Amino acid sequence: KDRRIATIASTIRVIPDFPKPGILFQDITTLLLDVKAFKDTIDLFVERYKDKDISVVADWLDISGSDDILLKRNPVFIAGYPVPTALTSPCLGVAFAFSIEARGFIFGPPIALAIGAKFVPIRKPKKLPGEVISEEYSLEYGSDIMEMHIGAVQPRERALVIDDLIATGGTLAAAIRLLERVGAEVVECACVIELPELQGRKRLGDKPLFILVSAV
Ligand code: PRP
Ligand code: MG
Repeated sequence: KDRRIATIASTIRVIPDFPKPGILFQDITTLLLDVKAFKDTIDLFVERYKDKDISVVADWLDISGSDDILLKRNPVFIAGYPVPTALTSPCLGVAFAFSIEARGFIFGPPIALAIGAKFVPIRKPKKLPGEVISEEYSLEYGSDIMEMHIGAVQPRERALVIDDLIATGGTLAAAIRLLERVGAEVVECACVIELPELQGRKRLGDKPLFILVSAV
């Protein structure tokens, strides 16, 4: 496992009963105060996506330290298994990076810039000025609607979805639905933190999830 990950994990502050009783809030603002930890966080994602060679499994397992069944089951990412032609074409890379307001916006843009991908914001309702497509979703605490500009992504364009944290998976699942409704191919979702007890990744279907820190 990458040594940078332990330091990143140690900078995340855990605040009990915020914003509601019973919620153990994972506060990434303390990660952002640690210049090296923040840079390492971005670097770890960039290292994964920069060469756009997403078929390399070893890097995945080394970085996440995961023995994740879902990842291992996904044939796209296992060397030697049949790989869909879409993934062997010259446009193997991620064309778009999407991230989700508000905390996703902290991590999405620097990753998008560094890997040379376009950045598309997914926002809460009534924030985007153009014509939007909307998707309702449930949260760990409440429900909400997310919106994206129509025309920001074309059918078959390859997308990476970035957020700070996956809890119940409702947010990422809705982002995947939104992108697939406009015909995008969601290559992978990437988060800094996963709350594995909530089993959010089950809601992502067969979409791979890449995480740095597993909060227990
Ligand atoms: C938080 C977090 C994730 C989402 C994860 O966002 O940033 O986006 O919850 O929860 P889930 O996996 O159960 O869907 P939130 O909407 O609370 O607020 P934010 O605007 O601060 O990102
Ligand atoms: Mg969020």
